[in-house]
Amino acid sequence: MNIITFDSDDKLNEAAANIIIGQIQTTPRAVIGLATGGTPVGIYKQIVNDYQRGMISFRDVTTFNLDEYVNLPINHPESYRSYMNSNLFDHIDLPASQCHIPDGNAADPAEECRKYDEAIELSGQVDLQLLGLGHNGHIGFNEPAHALIKGTHVVDLAQETLEANARFFDSIDDVPKQAITMGVGTILKAKKILLVVKGADKADIIKRALHGTITTDCPASLLQTHPNLIVLLDSAAAGKLA
Ligand code: F6R
Repeated sequence: MNIITFDSDDKLNEAAANIIIGQIQTTPRAVIGLATGGTPVGIYKQIVNDYQRGMISFRDVTTFNLDEYVNLPINHPESYRSYMNSNLFDHIDLPASQCHIPDGNAADPAEECRKYDEAIELSGQVDLQLLGLGHNGHIGFNEPAHALIKGTHVVDLAQETLEANARFFDSIDDVPKQAITMGVGTILKAKKILLVVKGADKADIIKRALHGTITTDCPASLLQTHPNLIVLLDSAAAGKLA
């Protein structure tokens, strides 16, 4: 595990963007797992800047997003499809047919999950998976539970997640109660994992995730078992690490 702490958000975003771009430069046909939420916004901005400066092409890249809300119209501004379009996909040369996000409006969600896993399998292994961290230790939307599910599945979002994501909606009642998420089995199969965590409000949970007991009560703690984990933190998130 390689943990790096940054004293500025810009430097952290630049470092994360460089890891993703470096992966694509060495593996032009890279399969990249992507995250949404507040944490990666600045990273995507940096990637778009680098693309506009001609540093990188995404022509041959394939992406798989971690998750999508269930029953939120795809063109809703807070759908993860809208988020990815406005923060990244609309600004780079990644062919639309090569970006994958679970369809949260699928008539048959179980079939959608099966097809998502199949598409990941067919693309080969995920070369680099970008992750954020939930306040309750979730990765993707794998919430704390007695047992975790390996593959893509429908999940009931935890109360903490509804509360954390209420900031993106008019009220907590508008936050979708379910999502489709990649499972922890798929996440852990990625060749390399890049976990990015920002803010003092994540200081306790990142400490628990990286140094606490490995337990399904803190899904991110399973990352301790991954052979190629890079953790980028801002100094506030790193505040409680020894
Ligand atoms: C998003 C995702 C979530 C977020 C996590 C942190 O696709 O899978 O695990 O990474 O909820 O969200 P932020 O970055 O908004 O604090």
